[in-house]
Amino acid sequence: MSPKSSSGEGSMHDPRDNPKGISQKGATPKKTMPKGAAQKGATPERGTPRGDNHLDGGSESGRNPGLHPESRALHAGWHPDAPGEPLAPSWDPSTVFRHPEQGLSGDSWSYTRLDNPNRSQLERTLASLEGGSEALAFSSGMAAVQAAFHILEPGDHVLLPDDLYHGVRNLITDQYARWGLTFDFVDMTRPGDVTAAANPKTRMLWIETPSNPMLRISDIRALSKLAADRGWISVVDSTWTTPVVQRPLELGADLVLYSTTKYLGGHSDVLGGALVARGGQDFQPILDRLRSLQRQAGAVASPFDCWLMLRSLKTLYVRVRSQCAGAALIAEKLAAHPAVEKVHYPGLADHPGSQIASEQMDLPGAMISFQVRGNEYTALRVVSACSLVIPATSLGGVESTWEHRKTSEFEGTSTPENLIRLSVGLEHPDDLWRDIEQALIAVVPKRDENAGGAEAR
Ligand SMILES: Cc1ncc(COP(=O)(O)O)c(C=O)c1O
Repeated sequence: MSPKSSSGEGSMHDPRDNPKGISQKGATPKKTMPKGAAQKGATPERGTPRGDNHLDGGSESGRNPGLHPESRALHAGWHPDAPGEPLAPSWDPSTVFRHPEQGLSGDSWSYTRLDNPNRSQLERTLASLEGGSEALAFSSGMAAVQAAFHILEPGDHVLLPDDLYHGVRNLITDQYARWGLTFDFVDMTRPGDVTAAANPKTRMLWIETPSNPMLRISDIRALSKLAADRGWISVVDSTWTTPVVQRPLELGADLVLYSTTKYLGGHSDVLGGALVARGGQDFQPILDRLRSLQRQAGAVASPFDCWLMLRSLKTLYVRVRSQCAGAALIAEKLAAHPAVEKVHYPGLADHPGSQIASEQMDLPGAMISFQVRGNEYTALRVVSACSLVIPATSLGGVESTWEHRKTSEFEGTSTPENLIRLSVGLEHPDDLWRDIEQALIAVVPKRDENAGGAEAR
């Protein structure tokens, strides 16, 4: 991706066209300056070490063909290539960049709403990890959702899962109905329901799997094909999984959406969002439109947020794998506990989506929803009876959090009143389980008490 003219329009340059897979010809001489192009008279050209030093390895022609994603997470955004270059990329907060002598050109950094070295590094890494042609970084997950809806025209129809992140439901219901978008919520675990709800104006299929908060699994490959066969755009909100767990573009989806605020950021300290697009000439017009929307509307991720996010991505694979391993243990213990009525976790054999999950997910994820034996008050009391697990919304951080989900959602939500949504962090699973179990024992009445109607409130 390259900086563009001030309109933000035009064709895109793919940084991975670079045959060496590293800094391009014309790059600033390899000086030991902290800021690459800071010497007098130097033009802050695209291709300076600040923005473009990287090892991708995603292509056969790369200098390191076939780099594994764990390595790309470390080197695809930034890689010091010459003596004196910093291991960590510089933070480039400047909103404005000096023009080259011939005036502004598409190859120059110019204005940070259009592009910025830190954003470029982050977008390159996200595209590389997801196997996409380009990524676009936004200031929040919802800004990315908004950009995705904006590629549609008034009158277009969108199909969304009936169990999805309530913020997306609220956005389309409260805002986009006024702009003329029509929509239906369907059970995406039943592709027949999807086709039945479609109409001649359907243009987009919104997929969220595992769904929030019920962890229903829908078949990305089947749904993406269904969409492609009908000329609809398929978007997969993969916030709960990350490329460590599932890669929707490989399964045929057009766009992957992230609230990077969650696992990709991972430390509960950066708000962000991203879209990653598949390649292909046929998809280029949509990608160009998204890029224009990002640059013209300007809900872009700040340079510092991009810098932090890139830093987080370096540990993504170890974090998420460890969180998934912890979650699998906790899910099993929950499922065996008498105070628990039901556990929703695709890694459990009795989960209705476990077969599809095993086909499209490398790991079962680190999110668990479970229903305690009792009612809303029982669940609320369990949530506040822990000392290690933090009662808080959101997910994907290194600290475990949980919440009574129904009270966080929209009015009329069908989320069961006794459901707790747990985001498993990086604490030792034994410590987590000890904390969770004592909360369950302290709050949930024993089976015989419950049978007698002595429900705790
Ligand atoms: C699945 C999912 N998608 C999108 C979003 C929106 O992201 P953000 O809060 O970063 O705007 C969230 C936030 O919780 C989410 O859980």
